[in-house]
Amino acid sequence: MSYALITGGSKGIGKAIAEGLAAKKYNILLVARSENLLKENAAELEKKYGVKTDFFVADISANDSAKKIADWCTTKNYDISVLVNNAGYGLGGAFSKLSLDEQLNMMQLNMQSLVQLTYLMIPVLKKNHSQHYILNVASTAAHQAVPFLGIYSATKAFVLSFSRAIHHELKTEDISVSCLCPGPTDTYFMERAGMTNFEKAAKQAERMNMSPEAVAKIALHGLFTGKLEIIPGAVNKTGAFFSRILPKKLVENTLIRVYKP
Ligand SMILES: NC(=O)c1ccc[n+]([C@@H]2O[C@H](COP(=O)([O-])OP(=O)(O)OC[C@H]3O[C@@H](n4cnc5c(N)ncnc54)[C@H](OP(=O)(O)O)[C@@H]3O)[C@@H](O)[C@H]2O)c1
Repeated sequence: MSYALITGGSKGIGKAIAEGLAAKKYNILLVARSENLLKENAAELEKKYGVKTDFFVADISANDSAKKIADWCTTKNYDISVLVNNAGYGLGGAFSKLSLDEQLNMMQLNMQSLVQLTYLMIPVLKKNHSQHYILNVASTAAHQAVPFLGIYSATKAFVLSFSRAIHHELKTEDISVSCLCPGPTDTYFMERAGMTNFEKAAKQAERMNMSPEAVAKIALHGLFTGKLEIIPGAVNKTGAFFSRILPKKLVENTLIRVYKP
């Protein structure tokens, strides 16, 4: 069986997607910063599903990380047919109050590194197999501007737009590109975004949270059926529909009430 490469495979949605792929008998390559978690997850997948695993420790927000990951895959001669660009994070708060460096770091991880890795992995993916898959993880935040999650939602709008465009371009090269747009999911996201004390956002997340396993299951079904945009859950689908048809200002004003710290 071929390999699947998953960025952000140490926890949350990436970890659940890795497990879903291992259950389908893909060998698994995990990338993230937390070496101990990667080691633990890789050993668990080997034991539970009898697949081969390996991991690469990298801070993907570093400008040269995508090249290092692609070089690692080439040197090890891994036969990869699935790429999951999942690593990412958000930052809650007012644009002018958040650190500029942190916001630029998030942009590098959520956008530039994702683009770099996609670009560098296309020839690696195409080396052996007849059908290849790329899953880029955006968010329901991609469907409209979100005040107080402004740069984050803009990075995810970029991921969605980029993924939709290359879905059409890469079809002729036997690469199926899908974009996952999860809504609130029970992971470390809120903690990393510094939003656990954002009362309304935290309450909304509690009410709407899906489990990472449920998100992963829907994501993989969508990926392997060639779906362009995958929005897990009826509530998130309904939200995306209303974001499309309602006046932008109305949607943004509603979101201010949820995300204003
Ligand atoms: N949870 C939600 O509500 C939600 C909603 C919509 C979209 N998403 C998106 O889903 C994706 C996964 O997030 P999650 O919810 O699963 O959050 P999470 O539990 O915080 O997991 C994030 C993953 O990304 C990795 N990561 C973060 N920064 C990294 C860096 N600089 N270099 C390498 N790896 C890095 C983390 O690994 P290390 O910390 O070990 O490096 C971890 O494996 C993200 O793109 C996020 O934007 C999440």
